[in-house]
Amino acid sequence: MLVTQPLHQDVIDLLSAQFDVQASNKKLSTDEIINQVKDVDALIGSVNDDFNADVIAAGENLKVIANFAVGYNNIDIDAAAKRNILVTNTPNILENSVAEFVFAHMLALSRKLVEADQYVRAGKFSEVLLGSFLGIELKGKTLGIVGFGSIGQTLVPIAKGFGMNILYTNRKGELPEFADDPSVSYQNLDDLLATSDFVVLLTTLNEETRHLIAREEFKKMKDTTILVNMARGPVVKEEDLVSALENGLIAGACLDVYEFEPKVTDKLKEMNNTFLTPHIGSATVETRKKMAACVAQNVIDVLKTGECKNAVNKHLIQDQK
Ligand code: DGY
Repeated sequence: MLVTQPLHQDVIDLLSAQFDVQASNKKLSTDEIINQVKDVDALIGSVNDDFNADVIAAGENLKVIANFAVGYNNIDIDAAAKRNILVTNTPNILENSVAEFVFAHMLALSRKLVEADQYVRAGKFSEVLLGSFLGIELKGKTLGIVGFGSIGQTLVPIAKGFGMNILYTNRKGELPEFADDPSVSYQNLDDLLATSDFVVLLTTLNEETRHLIAREEFKKMKDTTILVNMARGPVVKEEDLVSALENGLIAGACLDVYEFEPKVTDKLKEMNNTFLTPHIGSATVETRKKMAACVAQNVIDVLKTGECKNAVNKHLIQDQK
């Protein structure tokens, strides 16, 4: 089997106990993967690997593509299904780490943590300045969650702890389990955008959600709103985000993902009303260890039994039978 980049060591250790594992100590390019995938039965990588139709065609013996991630928009699952290759992900693990990270982002920008830290490090702290570094509080603010799956729902108790009002929008519509909760309300996207102080994106990326947030949506938001993208970069049209920030349509943006990642639009880096991290929402010791065990088990399940509870394209394989 081929591991395309340095991942958590547990993946390698757990799989090496039973299989011959070829683990790259640097991230392989797509061409390098194509050159090395021919004889392997399992391909293991993550969101920054492009497991496209060419990679899949080159993997003549592939049985499983195991993504070290819950998202799998980097994999052509249709092409894999056509070759009876199961694609697996790591669900129900990273909810807490991403949910906590959303709050880390919101607090970082709203309390000016980066500027304050830089100020102290630069030796500028000579006296307490009571008129400077004024931030805003989360208490009493409205959190609008776009994409109310398991991660979005994990935000709810944390947001309540901060005393926030919670709105959500969801492709499934209103969820009965929140119908009686007075601090959580379903709204359509337009109303949510118009009333939220923080808009948090947690949708999966697909053709419906690509550029879900673009110029028209920014125009609907309040000029005090902070956008938080923890989903996938292309859910936001980055060019329009830059212009919305430049023209004061919104107050700020917290981004962990980027439309052309790992490239980040230069202007976003120059603004002081952005807070930027390098796609690390799930990067905690606890979560990554569990993800590693899950990835290894997914591979073992497919190779030993031909099945896996975390297969995301099983329905496509069945549809073609
Ligand atoms: C995921 O799991 O989809 C994250 O975005 C990658 O850590």
